[in-house]
Amino acid sequence: MPRRLVILGSTGSIGTQALDVVQRAPDLSVVALSADGAWEELIGQAREHGVRRIALSDVDAAARAAEAWTGGDVLSGPDGLVRLITESNADLVLNAIVGSAGLVPTVAALGEGIDLALANKESLVVGGELVTQLAEATGATIIPVDSEHSALHQLLGSEPPGTVDRLILTASGGPFRGRSAAELQDVTVEQALAHPTWDMGGKITIDSATLMNKGLELIEAHHLFGTPYEQIDVVVHPQSIVHSLIQLCDGATLAHLGYPDMRVPIAYALHYPDRVDVPVARLDLAAVGSLTFEPVDEETFACLRLAREAARAAGTAPCTLNAANEVAVHAFLSGRLRFLEIASVIEETLESLPASTVHSFDSLAAADGQARRIASELVNARTTA
Ligand SMILES: NC(=O)c1ccc[n+]([C@@H]2O[C@H](COP(=O)([O-])OP(=O)(O)OC[C@H]3O[C@@H](n4cnc5c(N)ncnc54)[C@H](OP(=O)(O)O)[C@@H]3O)[C@@H](O)[C@H]2O)c1
Repeated sequence: MPRRLVILGSTGSIGTQALDVVQRAPDLSVVALSADGAWEELIGQAREHGVRRIALSDVDAAARAAEAWTGGDVLSGPDGLVRLITESNADLVLNAIVGSAGLVPTVAALGEGIDLALANKESLVVGGELVTQLAEATGATIIPVDSEHSALHQLLGSEPPGTVDRLILTASGGPFRGRSAAELQDVTVEQALAHPTWDMGGKITIDSATLMNKGLELIEAHHLFGTPYEQIDVVVHPQSIVHSLIQLCDGATLAHLGYPDMRVPIAYALHYPDRVDVPVARLDLAAVGSLTFEPVDEETFACLRLAREAARAAGTAPCTLNAANEVAVHAFLSGRLRFLEIASVIEETLESLPASTVHSFDSLAAADGQARRIASELVNARTTA
């Protein structure tokens, strides 16, 4: 029997690549798909993949889809998304939603004891402790999709406990690597979206340009692997060939290499613990020529420093960091904020909201709402100044 798979965020960058992977996987059967508002594309995917149940978080889009599509059920709004997961009888959920909107579906899947292929790093940034506790309680497995964490998952797999000294995440450095703050004053949205090595959705591409993406990944790695923050390093590696490394107690360092292609970690997560053939280019090191590494400039790219500080403060601080970042990135993409102001808005939001203890998912939702309000005010003050 094929494994029953639900893909959340199927119209996005990860979602469409996952459908490409699934097309060649007779051991996987897609039973449900979701998007936010892209109802026509979602119906097209449902038709192409023989899926009879879809959900759209945007209720207007869901209403239009229900009118246009007679091929199956259309669920609507955030509750519809949760029902899509809990009523699907799924073996595996791929969460490829962008932003903290991915947390509720993560909780829904894990709460049902369904294994989770997790691209939505924001779920772990916002609710890391509660999310991992929930997975432990229900026995569900979280398999990372992020390329760095997929690499770490593979590298750590065979190491006995107590042998790993450090995790090293690589960062491409984004399109602005090597620039000074003065040179970043007037960069445009188009320049920030031109990632040198990865082709991704808009939000993560801006996060890569600010290095917030690496900050979010630092927090993600801490929760996924239970590694203390002081044992997780970041190094800039512009070629994006080495996806991550681990350092062991005997002085050995192990690395995971490959061309940057998300279909590899997606296929790994969807088939884990098995491996399957993936039709991607095989690494030719002689053709690559050289692999280079350099330290991160955390003064110019303040978002990584802010993420480290929020991670250390713990409690609601990573949730506040994430919410402020989402507001600031949205404002930058819509031309209301300058590139360097993304970090200032996040820093000022964190200063306004000292970290408090997380008691429940409700306290996270409250912290998220509060941070969004303050960050929006900070954006508006800059827009009208
Ligand atoms: N792209 C990559 O290569 C990559 C690599 C590593 C990790 N990731 C992580 O994977 C996640 C997805 O990234 P992406 O680049 O694929 O994003 P994306 O291209 O922007 O796609 C996001 C998907 O989520 C849906 N969505 C957006 N807002 C939603 C909401 N409020 N409620 C429900 N669904 C919503 C979108 O639907 P609509 O189409 O209707 O808007 C779309 O299907 C992110 O957490 C990202 O950090 C991505």
